[in-house]
Amino acid sequence: MMMSVRMAPPLPLIFFTMMLRVSMADWGVIYSHSHICALKNSSVIMSCSYTYPTGHQIEKVFWTKINVKAKEEFPDLFEDPEYSQRLQYLGDKQQNCTIRLSHVTQKDQHMYYFRFITNIDKWLGKPGVTLTVTDLQVEAPERVTEGHNVSLTCKSSCTLTDRATFIWYRNSQPLTERRDRNNQLLLQSVRREDAGRYNCALHGHTYISPAAQLTVTYPPKNVSVSINGSGVIVEGDSVTLNCSSDSNPPALNFSWFKGGTFVGSGRIYSISNISSDHSEEYKCRSINEHGEEYSAAVTLHVMYPPRNVSVSINGSGVIVEGDSVTLTCSSDANPPAEISWFKGGMFVGSGRIYSVSKISSDHSGEYKCRSINEHGEEYSVAVTLHVMYPPRNVSVSVNGSGVIVDGDSVTLICSSDSNPPALNFSWFKETQSSAVGSGQSFSALQSGRFYCEAHNQHGSQRSDAVTVTVKGGLVKLYISVGVICGAAVIITMLIW
Ligand SMILES: *[C@@H]1O[C@H](CO)[C@@H](O)[C@H](O)[C@H]1NC(C)=O
Ligand SMILES: *[C@@H]1O[C@H](CO)[C@@H](O)[C@H](O)[C@H]1NC(C)=O
Ligand SMILES: *[C@@H]1O[C@H](CO)[C@@H](O)[C@H](O)[C@H]1NC(C)=O
Ligand SMILES: *[C@@H]1O[C@H](CO)[C@@H](O)[C@H](O)[C@H]1NC(C)=O
Ligand SMILES: *[C@@H]1O[C@H](CO)[C@@H](O)[C@H](O)[C@H]1NC(C)=O
Ligand SMILES: *[C@@H]1O[C@H](CO)[C@@H](O)[C@H](O)[C@H]1NC(C)=O
Ligand SMILES: *[C@@H]1O[C@H](CO)[C@@H](O)[C@H](O)[C@H]1NC(C)=O
Ligand SMILES: *[C@@H]1O[C@H](CO)[C@@H](O)[C@H](O)[C@H]1NC(C)=O
Ligand SMILES: *[C@@H]1O[C@H](CO)[C@@H](O)[C@H](O)[C@H]1NC(C)=O
Ligand SMILES: *[C@@H]1O[C@H](CO)[C@@H](O)[C@H](O)[C@H]1NC(C)=O
Ligand SMILES: *[C@@H]1O[C@H](CO)[C@@H](O)[C@H](O)[C@H]1NC(C)=O
Ligand SMILES: *[C@@H]1O[C@H](CO)[C@@H](O)[C@H](O)[C@H]1NC(C)=O
Repeated sequence: MMMSVRMAPPLPLIFFTMMLRVSMADWGVIYSHSHICALKNSSVIMSCSYTYPTGHQIEKVFWTKINVKAKEEFPDLFEDPEYSQRLQYLGDKQQNCTIRLSHVTQKDQHMYYFRFITNIDKWLGKPGVTLTVTDLQVEAPERVTEGHNVSLTCKSSCTLTDRATFIWYRNSQPLTERRDRNNQLLLQSVRREDAGRYNCALHGHTYISPAAQLTVTYPPKNVSVSINGSGVIVEGDSVTLNCSSDSNPPALNFSWFKGGTFVGSGRIYSISNISSDHSEEYKCRSINEHGEEYSAAVTLHVMYPPRNVSVSINGSGVIVEGDSVTLTCSSDANPPAEISWFKGGMFVGSGRIYSVSKISSDHSGEYKCRSINEHGEEYSVAVTLHVMYPPRNVSVSVNGSGVIVDGDSVTLICSSDSNPPALNFSWFKETQSSAVGSGQSFSALQSGRFYCEAHNQHGSQRSDAVTVTVKGGLVKLYISVGVICGAAVIITMLIW
């Protein structure tokens, strides 16, 4: 590629100067740039014009440089193998002595002179053109914090004569979206994606600067907790929580919080022999020098077999026949347990609540519940239901048997079925309204029909009557019991 070199002074001034030289002294060489700063590997045009006295014939035109090693005073660059391939004479043999030098390197940094020889004399255009060859270097901070502004500079060692446009590359991709200012690339409010290798170059030139690495630092983002093992956590397991975060530089400071309370530090938080006490929300905090960031909370659900299984009876007091009674089984289990009920070892129902709407004495007995989940089972301690009821099956019986001698009495005994047992008994003779005696036994001394009444705190019941007959000094007792059922006992006793 050619480099277009602009003439620094405006053309009229050059011509004016040329005219002046020509008129004052007929010999002269004018270079449009005395200093040329060129990019490595580019082509340089050294614009040049020359004059000589009229009447002279040009015999030779060439360019030279001071070369101390060379034997001849002014070596011809066109004959120098280091230049001959790269050098092109664009001028003529009248007044234009422009040359082009391609693929310039640092070794080409010299002062160059135009020399010409006429049939009469020779001339060296002094001072010559100083060529400086530069490369490009990206100047950028090594690291920049996300959100900050940063500017990258494409540096050359001399001010380029050619005012070409700078172009930028990130990771070898040309940057089109960013605006550059001179030789600077301005990155505003830097994002993480701006990190990478930056090169700069000049539009239309092959040379590309070495890359500069730009690192974008940022506080931890996307902090998350992972639990090792994906499945169910059962009491006694070992569990590790892993805090991961995206940050630059990588976060090294991790803290763990259980329900808001600090419990440890380090990237990994290990719990061995986990218990239900560890069922909580956990969070980790990841810190680098740019900030703080917390993870979302993760909840540990620690599973365990049933425990603390117990039965409670609603109502604290006495259970009386006919009451509604509710037994409740409580247990602590995760996942929640299934409950079964047993009475004296026999399965009687399931569900947390066992209800009996009209309890009878048949319901008296030992009850326990079983709580079961996939991690185990446990039984409650047995509770005993005592169902209270008023006296029933009240009956009168006669103590002893056989013959009783004249003047003796006969003892009647009142028996009953009740809970609690009856302690209070009243005796009646059928024709009398008031009681004739009390206590569980009664001594009858005269004829009549007698019955008893048994009491407890839940009620009372009377027995059937028994007939006592006294005949001439003899007491004949007829006891008629067992009207109710076949199990009744009939005792007949004769007493003289
Ligand atoms: C000298 O020759 C070059 C190449 O042909 C041309 O670009 C330049 O304009 C000429 N210079 C003058 C002063 O005529
Ligand atoms: C970045 O540059 C913009 C535009 O010049 C300016 O508004 C902003 O405040 C700068 N931000 C920082 C962090 O310097
Ligand atoms: C120099 O330029 C030529 C084309 O003009 C190109 O082929 C070559 O790769 C370049 N060399 C370097 C080192 O850039
Ligand atoms: C957070 O991480 C997840 C998975 O690692 C990813 O898909 C997501 O894009 C990240 N979010 C941000 C804001 O970086
Ligand atoms: C979790 O990690 C701990 C320690 O590395 C290991 O003992 C335990 O078995 C792991 N638990 C699961 C569920 O993978
Ligand atoms: C923690 O998580 C990170 C990223 O997910 C992973 O690279 C690392 O191996 C994990 N560490 C352990 C001990 O599991
Ligand atoms: C971690 O960060 C906390 C909060 O900034 C600080 O108090 C603590 O000293 C840091 N720990 C380490 C090991 O750097
Ligand atoms: C695990 O913890 C339970 C209750 O805290 C304890 O009884 C048991 O011995 C512990 N087991 C081990 C292996 O430490
Ligand atoms: C439950 O049982 C555990 C032992 O298994 C005991 O430490 C705890 O106090 C019990 N909790 C209740 C509410 O009874
Ligand atoms: C027991 O619970 C049942 C059903 O909820 C109720 O009908 C009954 O009155 C309760 N008994 C007592 C003594 O609270
Ligand atoms: C007691 O009385 C009930 C009815 O009240 C009856 O069903 C039961 O058979 C009686 N029991 C005896 C032993 O007489
Ligand atoms: C029943 O009779 C026996 C002797 O036959 C006597 O020992 C007992 O005390 C009597 N019981 C009552 C309650 O009278």
